[in-house]
Amino acid sequence: MIVAANWKMNPTLDQAGVLATALTTHTFANVTRVLFAPHPYLVPMSVRLSDSGVRIGGQDCHFADDGAYTGDVSATMLRDCGASMVLLGHSERRSAHGETSHLVAQKVRAARAQQLQVMLCVGETKAERDHGQAEQVVIDQLQASIPSDMDAKHLTIAYEPVWAIGTGAVASPDDIATIHALISAVLTEKYGADNLPPILYGGSVNANNAADIFAIPKVDGALVGGASLDAEAFAAICTAANQISP
Ligand code: PGA
Repeated sequence: MIVAANWKMNPTLDQAGVLATALTTHTFANVTRVLFAPHPYLVPMSVRLSDSGVRIGGQDCHFADDGAYTGDVSATMLRDCGASMVLLGHSERRSAHGETSHLVAQKVRAARAQQLQVMLCVGETKAERDHGQAEQVVIDQLQASIPSDMDAKHLTIAYEPVWAIGTGAVASPDDIATIHALISAVLTEKYGADNLPPILYGGSVNANNAADIFAIPKVDGALVGGASLDAEAFAAICTAANQISP
């Protein structure tokens, strides 16, 4: 199981230090924890968490490795600042920054060129679900965001229905199971059944619903936003994941 914290544009540096201390006080034999920290916090977090087993990731990277891109951050910079992963294609990047799956694929290539592991987000909006397009949207995003030469072992997928992010409205177990089975089928075609990347669910995961979500077939963990800013809630989610047999 993988439980990833997506801090987004939170918290303060002081609060980040408190959360990092909490992350070091627990260990979970069956859980890989990942922290997607804001870029300015990558160095302090990677120093503080160096012996904790928590993997550090950036929340985005540019498709180019250097150049005149004011405000952007390259995959090389992430790696040099202690990240071993990067989150790409998050819906907040797709919607607020106009990122297309084509651009996301370029970023995936840039990340892989610097040996970063990639967590790729896919998921439909409310309108797309209401129009019966959820499955096709996810298929299209997977096909267009994953470069053809991408190796399965460097990839993790996070299925995050956009309407479930930060809203408290978790997708139903049936809907999660359906989309995870679909993602699994698409990736099986590409990589083979024995070579599937982990598939996480994200969208309003919290301490109360995590165990039920982890019990759904083909759910290999969670990408956690809001609840990752609460040390106790995040530890409870990791505890729930740890109780799932490997
Ligand atoms: P949420 O965010 O847990 O606050 O819904 C998840 C995410 O955006 O990754």
